[in-house]
Amino acid sequence: MKVVSIVGARPQFIKAAAVSRKLREQHEEILVHTGQHYDYEMSGIFFDGLELPRPDRDLGVGSGSQGFQTGAMLKGIEDVLLAERPDFVLVYGDTNSTLAGALAASKLSIPVAHIEAGLRSFNRCMPEEINRVVADHLSELLLCPSDVAVSNLAAEGISKNVHLVGDVMLDVLNWAKQCADANQSAILDRFGLQKQAYLLATVHRSENTDEVERLWSILRALNSGDEPVIFPVHPRVRKIIRETGFRPEPHVCLIDPVGYLDMVALVGSARLVLTDSGGLQKESYWLGVPCLTLRTETEWVETVEAGWNVLVGSQSEEIVKAVNSFLPPDSRPALYGDGAAADKCVNLIGVRTEAEPIGLVERA
Ligand code: UD1
Ligand code: UDP
Repeated sequence: MKVVSIVGARPQFIKAAAVSRKLREQHEEILVHTGQHYDYEMSGIFFDGLELPRPDRDLGVGSGSQGFQTGAMLKGIEDVLLAERPDFVLVYGDTNSTLAGALAASKLSIPVAHIEAGLRSFNRCMPEEINRVVADHLSELLLCPSDVAVSNLAAEGISKNVHLVGDVMLDVLNWAKQCADANQSAILDRFGLQKQAYLLATVHRSENTDEVERLWSILRALNSGDEPVIFPVHPRVRKIIRETGFRPEPHVCLIDPVGYLDMVALVGSARLVLTDSGGLQKESYWLGVPCLTLRTETEWVETVEAGWNVLVGSQSEEIVKAVNSFLPPDSRPALYGDGAAADKCVNLIGVRTEAEPIGLVERA
């Protein structure tokens, strides 16, 4: 069976690292990189560091407005699908690459499998929320990380071919942890960090970056206090910081984005994580590091319910207060599966196809 997998953004390379290996044991995979992320630190570094197969096709779409970027991907992916005629298209998460992959495939009547299906923030101002909702409604196979995700789909009338498989990011993290342990002192030494004695920060969501004042409110919080802050800066934010002249205090260390193993080592040794990233909220939880989420809602509600993640928004005062006072409980129940989600996803794709063979429909 032939599967075309669509990736394009940093978290998708990480998720594909868990799934591609397994997929290729049973099926033929064509890995398509849309080119949504293209800097070496946002893309190539993950292919080099995660034993991820090189993309078979790189569409080189690059950056642009929502419509421009998604439209260019849609056209590029359609060309690949018409040439490859796969049995299934696999999409991950909630980026514009996810939306374009799901749309291109479903318009050609190729079944779509969505990994990380059913997540909702219930905030339609987020481009990711629109991407998720549409991708889920176009998918034939919905692979969910949590019970809440399954319920979210049910509430929208989607109950057929919905499976609770757990989170493929846990599979990758378990694999990476051993390598990261060996690597830990190197990355901490490089930045002069002591275990449990620094904060790790990341910001990139459009809701926190589109309005400069909101981003600055977060940056001001990082600048206050004197505990070291290590801040791998997403290129979207790097541009704004440069243009608006933000000056970090000496305890705030702005660095280029790092590879996944270095990131796991940095998260694992931090006292606290401050982030608006989806992936980092879960990784902090799995690694036992409390997390302040720089948003007012999250898709990963279980981490908040467990008491290890708190939604602090973007107001400086609230963030600083939480940095100084937030303490998680002693217990940390297992969340998002058992670390074998990729196997389950791959098996389900196989079963689904054997049961209902499909044909490619070409539409002018
Ligand atoms: C995208 C996803 C977001 C995901 C994030 C992961 C959408 C709508 N958003 O957000 O869900 O959490 O990826 O990191 O798909 N840029 C570079 N070099 C790069 C990539 C981006 O300079 O390699 C800059 C460009 O100025 C670009 C901006 O970053 O316009 C934003 O990139 P984009 O991919 O549009 O959105 P992200 O914020 O990365
Ligand atoms: N990450 C990384 N290097 C960095 C920042 C993040 O490897 O400099 C990893 C992080 O550990 C997580 C993933 O990238 O696995 C999250 O990606 P991001 O925050 O860009 O996207 P989101 O998860 O919010 O969609």
